[in-house]
Amino acid sequence: MVMLRAAKPAASALSRATLSRSFASSAIAKDKVLAVLYPGGEYAKRQPKMLGSVENELGLREWIEKQGHTLVVTADKDGPNSEFAKEAVDASIIITTPFHPAYVTKEIIEKAKDLKACVTAGVGSDHVDLDAANARKIGVYEVTGSNVTSVAEHAVMTILVLVRNFVPAHNQYVNGNWDVAEVAMNSYDVENKVVGTLGVGRIGRRILQRLKPFDCKELLYYDYNKLDDATEKEIGCKRVEDLEDFVSRCDVITINAPLHAGTKGLFNKELISKMKPGAWIVNTARGAICVKEDIAKAVEDGQLNGYGGDVSFPQPPPADHPWHKMRNVWNPELGGGNAMTPHISGTSLDAQARYVAGTKDILERIWNKKPQIDANVIVENGHYVSKSYGKH
Ligand code: NAI
Repeated sequence: MVMLRAAKPAASALSRATLSRSFASSAIAKDKVLAVLYPGGEYAKRQPKMLGSVENELGLREWIEKQGHTLVVTADKDGPNSEFAKEAVDASIIITTPFHPAYVTKEIIEKAKDLKACVTAGVGSDHVDLDAANARKIGVYEVTGSNVTSVAEHAVMTILVLVRNFVPAHNQYVNGNWDVAEVAMNSYDVENKVVGTLGVGRIGRRILQRLKPFDCKELLYYDYNKLDDATEKEIGCKRVEDLEDFVSRCDVITINAPLHAGTKGLFNKELISKMKPGAWIVNTARGAICVKEDIAKAVEDGQLNGYGGDVSFPQPPPADHPWHKMRNVWNPELGGGNAMTPHISGTSLDAQARYVAGTKDILERIWNKKPQIDANVIVENGHYVSKSYGKH
């Protein structure tokens, strides 16, 4: 696995421990920043805009080192012997991304004695044990809003891909064949369908807004935070207060809530059985919101027509994760009913530029002792600040 270590600045001849003791209360204390990013390999060289890769280091190395801080970057993230676990022990700031999540568990937090902040370069901080962070008063920040349009576009695309049966039709064509009936037998319009989002925050709302011109029969949402009347009217959507009622009314459900205790495993066989037979699910939120075996079985036996998204648990998923091989009853040989991709929706090159700028801003505020932008704060000073991680 790739691990890049900063050339230590002159001052770092002193051990970090010495530095923190000497300057504990002063603005010139130097931090060890540990960033866990996805491996970019040759692609990172071909595409320097791919800032979220371990090779391109969020484009922040020079800026971080100029201030005398240390940057360690690694992609090796899993298990107690990973570079991440070893380097976390004396890190004061850990930067992670949801695309290649380093799981900042209670154990990691307990061992990371100097840790004061976890920064998610992106959106979604469920890979950090937020309760454990609160117990140590470690701030958890993310670049809220940085990739929400990117994800909304991907979700709308995936809805279309599934409903219109694009994957089998495309595969048939690039295989050199032409059989309209084979793929038309499971191809529908989004027009006149009922589409609902579980979670109507920044992404869920944008998906509904983008679907408005498709003239769906109804646009619904289920969320404990209600949209204001004017926004509901503008989008033309309605809230459904009961979860089973919500799922039973939708032809397509898109999942756009964070992963927390209230959403983990929510889409299990029982809830899926309340859905309309042959409905579709698009989940770009987090893989663990769905029970993977129950989703695969529902697709394979026809209760679901298809499932798509770009998130799995864990990430990367093991080779035997059932979503790799899951196919629907209509076009199993052509990949029918499976619109999965690796975790790409929120890491478009445009999104990377935004989440890097936001990460830099969060670091700057930590080092200048300025308050963080409210929307970026998930937990701070031992409390949940975000209202999106359940009713705290
Ligand atoms: P947000 O914080 O703006 O909105 C989340 C909404 O979910 C809130 O309105 C909240 O009340 C609602 N919610 C929470 N628990 C719920 C529950 N049990 N039932 C119904 N609604 C519930 O967050 P945003 O920006 O819309 O992102 C949502 C999630 O999408 C993130 O937490 C992250 O997990 C995922 N995400 C995925 C990305 C990707 O690349 N695939 C990129 C960005 C976000």
